[in-house]
Amino acid sequence: MSSQTINFTRGVPADESFPLTEIMEAATSILKENGTAIMQYGPALGFAPLRQWIAQWQGVQAEQVLTGNGSLELIEFLCRHMLRPGDVVFCESPTYDRTITLLRRHGAEVVGIPLESDGPNIEALESALAKRVPKFFYVIPDFQNPSGATCSGEKRKRIVELAERYNFMILEDAPYRLLRYRGAAQPTLFSLAPARTLHMSSFTKLIAPGVRMGFMLGNPDILAKVGKVAEDTYISPGYLAHGITYEWCRRGLLPPQIERLKALYAPRLDACLRAIDQYMPDAETTRPDGGFFLSVTLPPGTLTSEVRTEAARRNLNLSDGLAFFPNGGGERFLRLPYCALSPAQIEDGINRLAETVKAVRAK
Ligand SMILES: Cc1ncc(COP(=O)(O)O)c(C=O)c1O
Repeated sequence: MSSQTINFTRGVPADESFPLTEIMEAATSILKENGTAIMQYGPALGFAPLRQWIAQWQGVQAEQVLTGNGSLELIEFLCRHMLRPGDVVFCESPTYDRTITLLRRHGAEVVGIPLESDGPNIEALESALAKRVPKFFYVIPDFQNPSGATCSGEKRKRIVELAERYNFMILEDAPYRLLRYRGAAQPTLFSLAPARTLHMSSFTKLIAPGVRMGFMLGNPDILAKVGKVAEDTYISPGYLAHGITYEWCRRGLLPPQIERLKALYAPRLDACLRAIDQYMPDAETTRPDGGFFLSVTLPPGTLTSEVRTEAARRNLNLSDGLAFFPNGGGERFLRLPYCALSPAQIEDGINRLAETVKAVRAK
């Protein structure tokens, strides 16, 4: 039995990526200079200096920025504002499982559009639209969770055209977009269709989940209504953490942090791709240029559930892929989050995975 347990389970940032000293210094400074403001309640749309900083960074007006305690809860508030039981929402299939849970909690009918390695299948999107028009299409266009796929420029244009033609909103969730290790970025859906798109991102993957700082950009009227839901729920977001985040950003520490993250994570992605080429050359995988995830589709007849059980005997923990698929499927899907593992652990883990798949197929 292999000794060290390897977890290809949770898509969390690496512990060693957190800029602890910088955060301590930013905390001391903002508490000295603006302590009262960040200890007091404030507007639910967020700490004004942080909203202004994000607006300038993203090239929008401050009223087009809503900040919240992480981006996931902003989806919850948006759903509460926008959805009524029975409303239809489209998403990619697979997609981020927690969003599916939130959508369902609001009584939405969640329709999955099959995802390909270059984005949603546009023919499937068109035929779904011929039947029902969604309130919004939830898309993770960059280094998607869970697949690692990035939507091509061509498909982004088609999605926007269809949103115009059929009159639906786009919810663009882009927390991995800035973690591009090679190649050129595609335009955001927000830049292609600013009036129809709500764009979301988060500092969870850029600083740490502990700062609970996510933001939504878009139409100020919609954001004001989402902000009212936020106000009625928590009065105001966590100004202490948001004040620290603001001070850290103001000091110009985001660009060097992004470079450090790329230097830490790019070799992990490379280790993953190299190990797949070496140990599983016939595997059907995505080959992302950034982000946290890569996914494998197991050979026909080989189930993720069987591979998981067998892998556990080799001290390799894998996730069940079923929850990422809103309308079924995913029996052969495997998400591999690689960022929190060292290159050596990744190589060892993929080697064990290849052995496991062979053993399951031989049965
Ligand atoms: C696509 C996607 N959206 C949202 C989130 C939640 O992020 P936050 O920590 O900002 O709530 C995650 C976290 O993994 C994610 O992968």
